[in-house]
Amino acid sequence: MPLPFSLAVPYALTRPFLFGLDPEAAHDLTLGSIARLQNTPAQCLWAQPRVADPVTVAGLHFPNRIGLAAGLDKNGQCIDGLGAMGFGFIEVGTVTPLAQPGNAKPRMFRITERQALINRLGFNNGGLAAFIANVQRARSFRRAGGILGLNIGKNAATPIERAVDDYLLGLDGVYPHADYVTVNISSPNTQDLRALQSDEALDALLSALNTRRAALAAKHGRSVPMFVKIAPDLDEAQVGVIAATLRKHGIDGVIATNTTIARDAVQGLPHAAEIGGLSGDPVFEPSNRVIRLLRKALGAGYPIIGVGGVTSGAAARAKVEAGADLVQIYTGLIYKGPSLVTEAARALAR
Ligand SMILES: Cc1cc2nc3c(=O)[nH]c(=O)nc-3n(C[C@H](O)[C@H](O)[C@H](O)COP(=O)(O)O)c2cc1C
Repeated sequence: MPLPFSLAVPYALTRPFLFGLDPEAAHDLTLGSIARLQNTPAQCLWAQPRVADPVTVAGLHFPNRIGLAAGLDKNGQCIDGLGAMGFGFIEVGTVTPLAQPGNAKPRMFRITERQALINRLGFNNGGLAAFIANVQRARSFRRAGGILGLNIGKNAATPIERAVDDYLLGLDGVYPHADYVTVNISSPNTQDLRALQSDEALDALLSALNTRRAALAAKHGRSVPMFVKIAPDLDEAQVGVIAATLRKHGIDGVIATNTTIARDAVQGLPHAAEIGGLSGDPVFEPSNRVIRLLRKALGAGYPIIGVGGVTSGAAARAKVEAGADLVQIYTGLIYKGPSLVTEAARALAR
């Protein structure tokens, strides 16, 4: 039973220690600790009451509109512990069919001056079987009404022409365990992945996924919404084609956006030249631009999840004003800590 108030340790006390570590070491230490301590009394060290602001999107009942973005908990090991921070929804993954190590380290960098990160992790994860076992172990978050999204991708070793096979394996595996499934075609760290966002490739992928989804819905007696996650580095014409293709294949919603490959906002700062996806404050405006274009192209009522550079309640509001129905955070959590979840959820609560 969550407490009605927070005993959480102020992040101002833990952040200097974590920021003294290599970013990926800090990440591993934090997730490892959450995995061990979740669902124990020690969870009060970071747990916070959840802001109640229920909303129905894509037929799902979200307890509030703030979610955790994919990639923080790639293996789905910390769903309950992260959920205790007050999120209305948690998205875990990206999971690939087979376990893979990802790119060589170092592969994650802080640009503290801009509340930003660059990562080129490359879908490091323990594979679909381990992921599903972890997801099945999660209890308290979903029991308390939290919504769980499972995010799927392709293995690096799978040629791009066979990408559809990996997504179908992922969909088959996660379908019975998900409240929604996200099809991630926008990570910059898997070669050619973003090519799946273009016309014929997207059409073929979504056609195959939608056909399989119909079969899975019949088999499991439940239709699970499917969302597609796109990049911020798209022009208006590309966004228009994507929007039309989403509609054509009955995709239930779109997540905008992933990290950016642009570097103009961080030019000259330490680590700015590192290869990978840039997240945090510098992707705030680029992602808002894509959300506005999507809303224009898709019209009112089509579910859009806004993500990119939310570091405050005001930034979360701006995502909704740009056209988002729900908002996710990742990098803001690293810089601001769990109190950002409450701040952002309150800012959106009517
Ligand atoms: C270290 C790191 C790893 C990420 N891994 C994934 C991933 O596996 N799948 C995915 O869909 N997005 C991934 N993302 C992208 C985030 O989910 C989010 O879309 C992006 O970072 C923009 O939001 P933010 O500025 O709040 O971080 C990752 C981001 C970061 C910083």
